[in-house]
Amino acid sequence: MVPENINKRAAELRRQIDYHNHRYYVLDQPEISDADYDRLFDELLGLESRFPELITSDSPTQRVGAAPLDKFESVRHSSPMLSLNKVTAAEEFEDFDRRVRELLAGEGGQLEYVVDLKFDGLAVELIYKNGLLVTGSTRGDGTTGENITANLKTVKTIPLRLSGPDIPELIEIRGEVIIFKSMFEILNNKQVEANEKIFANPRNAAAGSLRQLDSKITASRPLYFFAYSIGKIEGKSFSNHFETMKYFKSLGFKVCEYLKSFTKPEKVEKYYDKIAGKRDSLDYDIDGIVIKVNDYNQQEILGQIARSPRWAIAWKFPPQQVTTILEDIQVQVGRTGILTPVAHLKPVKVAGVTISRASLHNEDELKAKDVKIGDTVLIQRAGDVIPEVVMVITSKRTGKEKTFKMPKKCPVCRAATIRIEGEAANRCVNPYCRAQLVERIAHFASKGGMDIDGLGYKTVEMLADKELIHDIADLYDIPRHKDEILKLERTGKKWFSNLEKALEKSKNRPLENLIYALGIRNIGEHLASVIAQRFGSIENLMEQSNEQLVQVEDIGPIVADSIIAFFNDKRNIEILNKMKSYGVLFPKEVLSKSEGKLTDKTFILTGTLEKFTRSEAKKQIEKRGGRVTSSVSKKTDYVIVGTSPGSKHEKAMKLGIPILDEAGFKELLVENE
Ligand code: IVH
Repeated sequence: MVPENINKRAAELRRQIDYHNHRYYVLDQPEISDADYDRLFDELLGLESRFPELITSDSPTQRVGAAPLDKFESVRHSSPMLSLNKVTAAEEFEDFDRRVRELLAGEGGQLEYVVDLKFDGLAVELIYKNGLLVTGSTRGDGTTGENITANLKTVKTIPLRLSGPDIPELIEIRGEVIIFKSMFEILNNKQVEANEKIFANPRNAAAGSLRQLDSKITASRPLYFFAYSIGKIEGKSFSNHFETMKYFKSLGFKVCEYLKSFTKPEKVEKYYDKIAGKRDSLDYDIDGIVIKVNDYNQQEILGQIARSPRWAIAWKFPPQQVTTILEDIQVQVGRTGILTPVAHLKPVKVAGVTISRASLHNEDELKAKDVKIGDTVLIQRAGDVIPEVVMVITSKRTGKEKTFKMPKKCPVCRAATIRIEGEAANRCVNPYCRAQLVERIAHFASKGGMDIDGLGYKTVEMLADKELIHDIADLYDIPRHKDEILKLERTGKKWFSNLEKALEKSKNRPLENLIYALGIRNIGEHLASVIAQRFGSIENLMEQSNEQLVQVEDIGPIVADSIIAFFNDKRNIEILNKMKSYGVLFPKEVLSKSEGKLTDKTFILTGTLEKFTRSEAKKQIEKRGGRVTSSVSKKTDYVIVGTSPGSKHEKAMKLGIPILDEAGFKELLVENE
């Protein structure tokens, strides 16, 4: 028997944890710190392990995942989960609208549409009996799906128990499980660190995560659920879609943030354009909008044909995937010597942009996809991501396609290439390879690096060909070669003097940019900033052992190895010394440990502030002991938002991190003076 006081405490803890989960995951307005939350959670775990009888199926501790399964059982949906007919152009939508109006003619009542986003994830159904989540399943073929209850229970935006004044005896809630794009990147980085397969896109990651036999794995994935339709319901009823969505929201579900109703089809068309324009900036993938007749009586009159309702239509965006002919494969050499096979394509338009090249990533991908020259291939382009070959349309093969083999020699410098065990990439081993040099310099000079304007690819190639630069440090010797350089094409006095100024200015770059600019393998802008703040100087960074490096959050063994390898390479030390001798400053950062009123607080800066430059704002924060990092996480304390903020603002809102505008930031500085 569980003592009464323990029983009460467990119930109270469950109530509190549910409440804070809701505030955190659904409302994005947490009230307590992560540490306080963890304390509640650990206390409940402790009680449950002492008294296993306490564990209820809706206890928040059950979100951590159950024992692995062999396979999923099937679940028959009580009413089919329908498909949607699709349109791709305004005229087709107008046809749909006309048909709907004809079928409803004489029935009276206004026709109203509700527009939802068409989420690109995995459709699922959740069955709640007397408020308790009893079954969760995939859509499957629409009639029968897979029972993935244990996995769905790990999704934080899915309530395990519904609370509210009048919970129906039975309610089936349908919707889509997705992974946010920003989270997807983080997940794939983790997969790389763990030597696991990376996911092609967020949809695959969501579907793959949900169909794990081990729900502990599902629990570790950042999944979200958006509710968008209702199946069976007993003990309550609704008269239209909008009302249902409002009810879902009141139950604590996430629903489409862009849900909107319209009576005029022209307005729907305008809204389609608006959403299409937002597509790339949303943090989740959508592939269109769904237009639904709002009124349930009208829906019933309209009925369905085959497996699709006549009362709804998906208006899809132009595909981000199209097919074309792969005319050739050429190999590019990157900054670290990696050889990347690139598909040269018969030009095609993908989502409004003409594409003639697409990445084939590496030899393994090439083999796995069995790509041959002359193949018809499916290519994909999403936002500003590099287009890639998704798959070969093998049914279009004629037999005349040619197999492609990765070259044994670097296509640029003819040096041997090697493939390091455990890596998918072939590399050119010649550190003086011109292609690598050009890429390294372009990286060094880039905005996130030393920010040296006036060094385009063509110029760098030319300088390398004339043997005026052999490494990044040589850039600072350019002024000495003025006469020679001015004789070259595409140069001029004005350009040269601007370049000199840009070089001079770059000698003062902050430590994080310098670290990024060096091009240490696997170190992007985020890690460069983490490293700068943690180690404070290049000299200190050089001294660190592998063990010391991996102690830092965000640095895994692969990154640690890259850092060690970089500083073990004598050539790199020579280059660093040469840079110093040309006057590049190796700045020291004030380590975040410094005592101050904002000690241990982490900040993100996004957008433009009026009264501070980025580095001034950073200095002010660091002076008070705070840290500025570059990627938003649950651990971020404040996000400072200026004008035209980036996706960090959106993400901060999602995570419920306090957001300050410039005035709020100033106040915080004054308060903490
Ligand atoms: S409503 C009959 N709403 O689209 C109503 N479906 O082609 C059917 N989907 O498998 C569901 N976003 O995966 C609806 N806002 C949305 C949706 C949506 C995505 C998907 C869902 C379903 C497919 C139907």
